[in-house]
Amino acid sequence: MAGMLEGKVAIVTGGGRGIGRGEALLLAAQGAKVVVNDFGGTTAGEGGAAGPADEVAEEIKKMGGEAVANYGNVVSLADGEAMVKQALDTFGRLDILVNNAGILRDRMVFNMSEEEWDAVIAVHLKGHFTATKFASMVFRQQRSGRIVNTSSESGFGNMGQTNYAAAKEGITGLTRSLALDLGRYGVTANAIRPRAATRLTLSPEMEAARARREQAAQAGQVPAETAAPDVVTGLDALRPELVAPLVVYLCTDDAAEVNGRDFIVGGNEISLVSLPRAERTIYRDGGWDVDTLARVFPTTLGAGLKNPQPPVAGK
Ligand SMILES: NC(=O)c1ccc[n+]([C@@H]2O[C@H](COP(=O)([O-])OP(=O)(O)OC[C@H]3O[C@@H](n4cnc5c(N)ncnc54)[C@H](O)[C@@H]3O)[C@@H](O)[C@H]2O)c1
Repeated sequence: MAGMLEGKVAIVTGGGRGIGRGEALLLAAQGAKVVVNDFGGTTAGEGGAAGPADEVAEEIKKMGGEAVANYGNVVSLADGEAMVKQALDTFGRLDILVNNAGILRDRMVFNMSEEEWDAVIAVHLKGHFTATKFASMVFRQQRSGRIVNTSSESGFGNMGQTNYAAAKEGITGLTRSLALDLGRYGVTANAIRPRAATRLTLSPEMEAARARREQAAQAGQVPAETAAPDVVTGLDALRPELVAPLVVYLCTDDAAEVNGRDFIVGGNEISLVSLPRAERTIYRDGGWDVDTLARVFPTTLGAGLKNPQPPVAGK
């Protein structure tokens, strides 16, 4: 297989399903040898099974590529180290790490348990550190490497997702700092905020319809669809595979100048997200006191600001 990543070796965490599966398949189609990591649990991060990682590794081999399954949990530092070791032992090198594994435990903040908070922060935020630490040791030595992290537009703020939004926005800060730690060694780190119809974003019924369509398409059949046509069209438009081309591009040698940035990607659209910067600034010699600030604020920093969730009577 000839492609843009010929001779490279990649790890994709959570590569057994959804967006990660699409990334693993396209990395392989472009010539990379792939360690497909997936612990195979539920969307809430419970249970575990070898099936998803095995299936994607098998798919890659059937395409004529090289892949190996890994069932580690990205929360564990030891499992992160083992993933990197497996890449080195199996394929002799490591060039690319795609941190993608993720779960959800949505809850309004006043109902959220400590366990729900900790689980989401652990899988996303710590889960972006574990394999990265060991991959970066290899990348630093060889003076090259690519890291693609998975954030979310929820990081901009999303109702019922304080745990997830905090972790996802933490990932963009992590990514910008990785870019500064590793850039001098020829390594880049970028983040994506994907949009895709996967089991994480669909209701169980919509996910079942999507899976039926995929199976039918793979078998070369016209699906006997039960979901409404507009739902199906929407699902097709946000096929998880459509996230992968940007990720693959960021992993090529061509993308050397792209470092510490984040992108929204899904369907037909890809956007470069601006870096956060001060929008308006006020100055006062000797600093501000509350009375002066209360007088000046509404016509300067506060001009035009509206509460996105104004109080509702009786709620
Ligand atoms: N689907 C979207 O629209 C969307 C939007 C924004 C962000 N994301 C992010 O994209 C990533 C992929 O999500 P998806 O929609 O493909 O979901 P998915 O559930 O289809 O796939 C996620 C995979 O990660 C694996 N995984 C979960 N926890 C793991 C762990 N601790 N160790 C190893 N593997 C683990 C799961 O088994 C699963 O196969 C996640 O980080 C998610 O937060 C998705």
